[in-house]
Amino acid sequence: KKIAVFASGSGSNFQAIVDAIKEKKLNAEVSLLVCDKPGARVIERAEEAGVEYFTFFPKQYETKAEFETEILKRLRAKGIEFIVLAGYMRLIGGTLLADFEGRIVNIHPSLLPDFPGKDAIGQALEAQAGVSGVTVHYVDSGMDTGPVIAQKAVMIRKEDTRESLQQRIQQVEHELFPRVLEELFNQEKVGGVQS
Ligand code: GRF
Repeated sequence: KKIAVFASGSGSNFQAIVDAIKEKKLNAEVSLLVCDKPGARVIERAEEAGVEYFTFFPKQYETKAEFETEILKRLRAKGIEFIVLAGYMRLIGGTLLADFEGRIVNIHPSLLPDFPGKDAIGQALEAQAGVSGVTVHYVDSGMDTGPVIAQKAVMIRKEDTRESLQQRIQQVEHELFPRVLEELFNQEKVGGVQS
C-alpha cells in the first residue's frame, strides 16, 4: 500500500510507522508526508527517513478547498492509496473526502466518543476519569466522529501528570497504530473493509 501520512507536530507516530515498515511488521510504503506546520519536528524525521514531504502554510490559501486541491494533486501524482492522520490538527474537508473517504484513518488519544477534539489527555485528567486510551478510527467530516476500528484502554493513575499519562498513551499509540494498519491493509486484500 502506498500511503501518505499527514502530521502537524513531533511525528512520533510517523516514526513508529516508518520503523514498523523497516522492521517488516507493516507492509506499506510512506510515499509522502503532508505537513501544515513548516517548522514541525516531523519534517526532520521525514528527512532522516528519506520520505518526500509537502509542507504548506494554510493561511496562504483562501479556503480549505484550495489547499486540499493542492494536496490532492500531489497524492494523485504519487499514486497514494490511503491517508493516515497522525497528529494532523485540522478537519479533513470535502475535497479530500470526496476522493478518499473510507481510505482515511486517524489516531486519537482517548477512548472515543469520550474526549474528542483538542487536548484529549488534558480533558481526561480534568474530568478525573479513571481510564482513557487510544482510538484508531475512519475519518469523516466531523471532529473525531468516524467509525471506530480499534481501541485500547490506558488506566489513569492518581499520581499521573499530563506528561506521565501522555507518555503511556503514546507508547500504546506507537504499538497499536502500525499493527491496526497492517490488519486493515490485509483485510482489504481479501475483500472489503468491515466497519
Ligand atoms: C498523538 O497523540 C495523536 O493521538 C494525536 O496527536 C498526537 C500526535 O503525536 N492525534 P505525534 O506527532 O505523533 O508525536
